Amino acid sequence: MPKPSLPKILAAATDAARAAGAVMRANLDRPKRVNEAHQHDIKLELDVRCQRLITRRLAGAFPEIPVLGEEGIDAAAEGAPARWVVDPIDGTVNFAYGIPHAAVSIALEVRHGRGFRSEVGVVYDPFMDELWTAIRGKPARLNGRRIHVSTRSRVDEAVVSLGFAKHDDSLNAVKADFTDLTHHVRKLRVMGSAALALTYVATGRFDAYVEAGVRLWDIAAGGLIVECAGGEFWSHPLAGEHRYGLVASNGLLRRKLMKCTSGGRSFQTAGH
Ligand code: IPD
Repeated sequence: MPKPSLPKILAAATDAARAAGAVMRANLDRPKRVNEAHQHDIKLELDVRCQRLITRRLAGAFPEIPVLGEEGIDAAAEGAPARWVVDPIDGTVNFAYGIPHAAVSIALEVRHGRGFRSEVGVVYDPFMDELWTAIRGKPARLNGRRIHVSTRSRVDEAVVSLGFAKHDDSLNAVKADFTDLTHHVRKLRVMGSAALALTYVATGRFDAYVEAGVRLWDIAAGGLIVECAGGEFWSHPLAGEHRYGLVASNGLLRRKLMKCTSGGRSFQTAGH
């Protein structure tokens, strides 16, 4: 496969994200068909429809690159030199309930050592019309404007986002950290979209984001955007396919926040 130009990759990902975002915007307040419902998770027919739309757009521009997505994984995605990593609707529960805080997340991962590494990331919030983009080694941007993580280094001034994932192990880990951190930080926020929590760190709105059990498609684009905005993106694989623990921050707070927790389970699994 000839090496694709990263700006062209970014343009294709942006086009696909905006197309899926338009479908999300049009459907926010409409009744939605639920394909599957679990205690802490919902899967919508619109998740599938948006992934198909994204896949069609990406394949139109780059037919040779397979897709690894929340709603389906191409058989070629593990062995390919490069792959798209797609979450068509990150924040599905918010979206299902009509809460306008959800996003499209698309990354291009390229083989790196024994694994893959994100080289391009796009996160699009269709409700705020905010588009974050990054190409590894270049500055992260929000709607074309350069962004940077916050410079806050004091825990008592920090706004920290926590993600309560879907399974008991990660729920318990974050629950313990929630109880500890709430007394030390300015505010904790639990907003329900990992991709947006990462881009909010990249933009300096949040100072850190901690979650003990996300999937690759939730974080592949946002993690790169944090790094390109000067932040620190700690992630480490957990048991289960494409599953990770993570601490993303402005680079000044991870250890300090960890010290405020008694067990610090989310932080420890992040390989401190
Ligand atoms: C979820 C959201 C949520 C996070 C979960 C994710 P989904 O993704 O990002 O904020 O806490 O861990 O799985 O299912 O809405 O795409």
